[in-house]
Order: sequence, then structure tokens, then C-alpha cells
Amino acid sequence: MTAPELRIMDDGTELAREAADLVVWLGGEAIAANGRFRVALSGGTTPRTLYGTLAGLNSSRRMDWSKAEFFFGDERCVPPDHPESNFRMAQETLFQPLRIGQQQIFRMPGEAPDPERAARQYETMIRTQFETPAPAWPCFDLVLLGLGEDGHTASLFPGTPALDEKDRLVVSSQSPKGVKARLTLTVPAINRARTVVFLVSGAGKEAIVRSVLEGTKGEDRSLPATMIRPAQGRLIWFLDRVAAAGLTIAKQGMVSHEE
Ligand code: 6PG
Repeated sequence: MTAPELRIMDDGTELAREAADLVVWLGGEAIAANGRFRVALSGGTTPRTLYGTLAGLNSSRRMDWSKAEFFFGDERCVPPDHPESNFRMAQETLFQPLRIGQQQIFRMPGEAPDPERAARQYETMIRTQFETPAPAWPCFDLVLLGLGEDGHTASLFPGTPALDEKDRLVVSSQSPKGVKARLTLTVPAINRARTVVFLVSGAGKEAIVRSVLEGTKGEDRSLPATMIRPAQGRLIWFLDRVAAAGLTIAKQGMVSHEE
């Protein structure tokens, strides 16, 4: 497992711009190598800002968006037009502006009445699309993640059974706040990605960022975000200065902000 790469930006706008450049670069590389770019999207305000920036970039010169395939790292168990739906957020900020075709979008069935059944349906769909029947593991080109103040990421929440899943790609889970019923990729499914990117901004995240990236106590090591360590892939943290303020390396100026 390689060490996380930290990229600290002055503010959320620069973070979104730098992350958007990376997404377009990774997309171009994946399409050049394999003819397609498979990315799992996250919910959350920081990922949302990235999507808006991506849609606004004149990126079609650098990447053929028609070759992108969009999956979801997690979803709330609500209909796709619900205000809390991650699909709806991506639809409004990314898919519609970039004119992404419905055949390129692989939505988690949040509206399904039985979340466990919906999780298994989505796993089957991923395995079919990636042509990776069990026990093979699909390999996303990119998984985008946010970070909650409790250390959750995707819809993997502290102390929940979803964290113990070692074999499945997708499970149902329970959030302690907001829409409780969720669907989420599992830790091993995320850790098989070629590149995993955390997008974290705001002063409210300073303490949890320090715990996840520099924590040594037992509970720090069991935080969901701490468990995200790609086996072979790259792990990149995009942070704004206020979210990174508690990091030792940030205080010592060891990470230049443009890195
Ligand atoms: C979700 C996300 C969740 C989110 C974090 C951070 O469905 O809400 O998957 O993991 O990324 O809660 O969200 P903010 O960036 O809004 O703090």
C-alpha cells in the first residue's frame, strides 16, 4: 500500500479546480488505455463543488466524456428525484451540463423497497458491466469520496456491520443522521480502485482529518476513512487549508499547497 498523497489548496474553489484537472487527466489516461473511464461518484457538498467545476471546464478537448461510465459510491434510499438523492445531485451538476447519456449512468436503486435486495442488484450490475463474476474484483479507474466529521466515507459509518464486509461489493447500511437507509460500496470494493480521491474542505473537518491521517489511537485506526487504503492504487487527499490546519505536516509547511 502506497502512502497517501496530500494536496493542500488555499480554498474550496482551488481544491475543486485542481481535483477537476486530475479527474480529466485520469479520464484521458483511462480512455487511452482501455477505451473507457469508470468512476464512482460521491455525495456531499465538497464533491458537488467538484462536479460543478468539472461541468464548467472546457474539458471536452482533453477528454471524451462519451467514454465515461458513472457509478455511485453510495446512495440514500430515496427516489432518484428526491432532494437527498446523490443521483439527483450528480444529474443536476454533472450529467445534464455535460450531456451524459443515460446509458453511461449506472444508478444505485435507492427507490427499491428492500435495501439489501437493492445492494445485491447493484452488485450484479457492476459485475456484469465490468465482466468480473465473483470472486473476481472490479477495478474502478477512480473512486471519489467525501469525509464526514465522524470519519464516515461513502455510506460506511463508524461501528456499523458494513465495515466488516470482506467479500461483497455493495451492502445496505444505516446512517445515524439524515436519511438513515443507505446503499454503499464496501471497503474492499473501494480499495481495489486504481485511484481513490478524498475531497475534504472546511474548518469543521480539521479534527477528523488529523485523526484519519495522523491519528494513532485505536479508535482512529477503526474509522471508516482510515480503512480506505488502496492495495495497488493511488490514494490522494485534496484538502483546503482550513481542513488541513491540524496536520503536523501542514504546520511544518512540508506539503506545498500546489503539490
Ligand atoms: C453522502 C456522501 C458522504 C459525504 C460526506 C461528506 O452520501 O453524503 O457519500 O460520504 O461525502 O458526508 O459530505 P460533505 O462534503 O457535505 O461534508
